[in-house]
Amino acid sequence: MTFNSSIRYQNQRLFVDDVPVLDIQHAVNTPVYIYSQRRILQNYRAIEQAFSAMQPHIHFSMKANNSLAILRGLRQVGAGIDAVSGGEIYKAIAAGFDPSHIVFAGVGKTAADIRYALDVGIGWFNVENVQEAHLIQQLAAGMGRTHVRIALRLNPDITANTHPHIATGHGAAKFGLTAEAIRHLLDHQHEFPALTMCGLHVHIGSNLKDTTATVEAIKRARELIAPYPNVTTLNIGGGMPVAYSSDEVVPCAADFAQAIALHVDGYHLLLEPGRAIVADAGILITKVLYTKFQGGQRLVIIDASMTELIRPMLYQAHHDIVPVHHDSNVQHFPTQVHGPVCETTDVMGRDVDLPELEPDDLLAVLTVGAYGSVMSSHYNARPRPAEVLVHEDGTTWNIIRRRESWSDLVQGEM
Ligand code: LLP
Repeated sequence: MTFNSSIRYQNQRLFVDDVPVLDIQHAVNTPVYIYSQRRILQNYRAIEQAFSAMQPHIHFSMKANNSLAILRGLRQVGAGIDAVSGGEIYKAIAAGFDPSHIVFAGVGKTAADIRYALDVGIGWFNVENVQEAHLIQQLAAGMGRTHVRIALRLNPDITANTHPHIATGHGAAKFGLTAEAIRHLLDHQHEFPALTMCGLHVHIGSNLKDTTATVEAIKRARELIAPYPNVTTLNIGGGMPVAYSSDEVVPCAADFAQAIALHVDGYHLLLEPGRAIVADAGILITKVLYTKFQGGQRLVIIDASMTELIRPMLYQAHHDIVPVHHDSNVQHFPTQVHGPVCETTDVMGRDVDLPELEPDDLLAVLTVGAYGSVMSSHYNARPRPAEVLVHEDGTTWNIIRRRESWSDLVQGEM
């Protein structure tokens, strides 16, 4: 059975490329995130290829995964970065990115973040607030900076087809500027002599289930900037989805490319994909701690929880959970897969079809490369898990983040 070109069973054992998951678990223990570099680069190249006629700059949205090793790999194939905080800019630079290949977005950039971004010379500010535009102007002028490139982020007032928690383009969302505010800023560009307002940014949400709302948002964006010939760049954000279960069909990069091609013609195009590059390249390996039969249900308690992966609890997101040792001949039963954290919502999967399980059996939670480890926490004083990258050769691997220890939990406290 194959989940994608890198995550599959071979002789009933789960592999990441040519590495048996068991080998990694023996060396590193659980819980552990494992990523396939091969799959990450394959996903990146698929986007590059799908959009090649439009010659976009692809800025990996590092909020999806900010491991230095993964960032370095994407830098080497030519990606730029979409960052949302001073911290992300700092990490991107630590991974070797040229600051001019970084776009800086976010509704709440602090003065310190903006100063830092100006100081290192980032490529673009995606501006979401009129006051923010004034603050960037003021700080840039104070630092003697000119030609600071600005993309104004449009809130197109469009509701995307996705989970409400990750839809950002409807009028009531905090994101972006209204069309009216953007027109006002573009009509008063002379009041911002340090800034060059030459881009329009629009991102309507993440894990978009169809291309319709994206096309509509781009149409509105174009209409808005048509009277302003100095606006030559369109940044259409991220949002390309992944399938979270084997029977889910979602539009691929080529579908998005085809849908938007006509509408971005004549503009320099920027993309900010996150999930579509890393999600299906990552799995989370977890161990069964206990099993029990309770309330008429088969329960397993695993050693991974909402502190390693919060998506199921926060967005009711589905992640396939499969055994590391797969035997299709044994009977499978609906199983409730619970984490150990003291919260009723700490359920990794409900009614998961699993074989009879014993303590120490291993399970893999799939499609966790995006918004997995980055959203981990120390809740219940749980150290963060180890992370491993299987290299592009498919056979060698290394730990890219060591497992935290209890002493990490008291770091920084007085
Ligand atoms: N650009 C902007 C302005 C964004 O806000 C985002 C994601 C992206 C790009 C990247 O979107 P992607 O290609 O990954 O869909 N934690 C949530 C997802 C939050 C997305 C936030 N913004 C989840 O686990 O589903």
